[in-house]
Amino acid sequence: MKFQGVKLSGTGAYAPEKVVTNDDLAKIVDTSDEWIQTRTGIRERHIAAEGENTSDLAVEAAREALEDANIAAQDLELIIVATLTPDKPFANTGSLVQAKLDNTKAMAFSVEAGCTGFVYIYEIAAGMIASGLYKNALIVGAEKLSSVANWEDRTTCVLFGDGAGAAVLTATAGEENGYLGSNMGSDGNYSDILHIPGGGTSLPITVENYHEGHQFLQMKGQEVFKLAVNAMANSAKSVLEEAGLTVDDIDIVIPHQANVRIINAVGKKIGVPEDKVYINVDRYGNTSAATIPIALRELVEAGRVQKGTKILMVAFGGGLTWGASLIEC
Ligand code: ACO
Repeated sequence: MKFQGVKLSGTGAYAPEKVVTNDDLAKIVDTSDEWIQTRTGIRERHIAAEGENTSDLAVEAAREALEDANIAAQDLELIIVATLTPDKPFANTGSLVQAKLDNTKAMAFSVEAGCTGFVYIYEIAAGMIASGLYKNALIVGAEKLSSVANWEDRTTCVLFGDGAGAAVLTATAGEENGYLGSNMGSDGNYSDILHIPGGGTSLPITVENYHEGHQFLQMKGQEVFKLAVNAMANSAKSVLEEAGLTVDDIDIVIPHQANVRIINAVGKKIGVPEDKVYINVDRYGNTSAATIPIALRELVEAGRVQKGTKILMVAFGGGLTWGASLIEC
């Protein structure tokens, strides 16, 4: 086994066709465009069609990333999907994506780490490539959060959207390495402030409890807000410190897109100028594991990612989980 460098070779993103505005939501729950925009920065979100599953969203983003990387799906040795909304509890969405890509040789699996999912799978794939065991990996953050949103609960349903983002990571020849560092963490003691309580072994959904809504995503908004700001800021500061860099060395920060007020508070805590912080939550809402790779793709398409561009990705999600990673493109 020979240790290898890792580089980002391609990116892709996909959002379902249907766009739902805040005004549209105001027709189904007691809310307003003004409330949603002021508290969250969200204007609209994409919602998947009935029958359009998480793996379908993932495959669209994956195809674009493979084309961008100029790699055939058959050449992938590793496929990892991060999602909290799998097509089904079992078999894993990674394998479903693999089948739809007509790949028959890759190791494929899914990771469930909430909104931190993409940062986690970047770390996993980068580590597996760096170890010398793999050369070509596809990582995808994909979510159909509309399937777990309670459309009668205005405190949560206005926050989420559906979408997918993908990246291809490849081994580099020689000394070149685009994975500069990471800081990952989790604290399961807070698992019940942001979760879907029912549907697993601890609280099966039954005919009797179905109407209690345990199958929907539930959240203690203000607690999540405070923990998210602190965890993301601390994680970002740690990764910079460990890499011997400061925010001045970073070209772009891509924070998890949950809420513009969380993003601004994190930016302030780490002392990064606003123009370096990418925000698109206004157009997608919170797409959980998909927010960072969708943003990454948009930045590539806008021509803001060149050879040598340094990007800090930082996320926070249910679990609780958090993580920051630093890449050089
Ligand atoms: N429309 C109108 N009014 C609403 C809505 C809504 N959609 N939702 C709540 N309200 C009301 C509440 O009922 C409350 O009314 P009351 O004062 O009469 O009781 C009032 O607005 C204030 O409610 P709060 O919960 O105190 O509002 P807050 O300012 O905390 O904002 C929010 C709520 C936006 C959820 C905020 O707490 C937040 O951003 N938390 C972080 C949540 C988040 O981003 N989670 C994402 C993580 S999930 C993940 O990443 C997978």
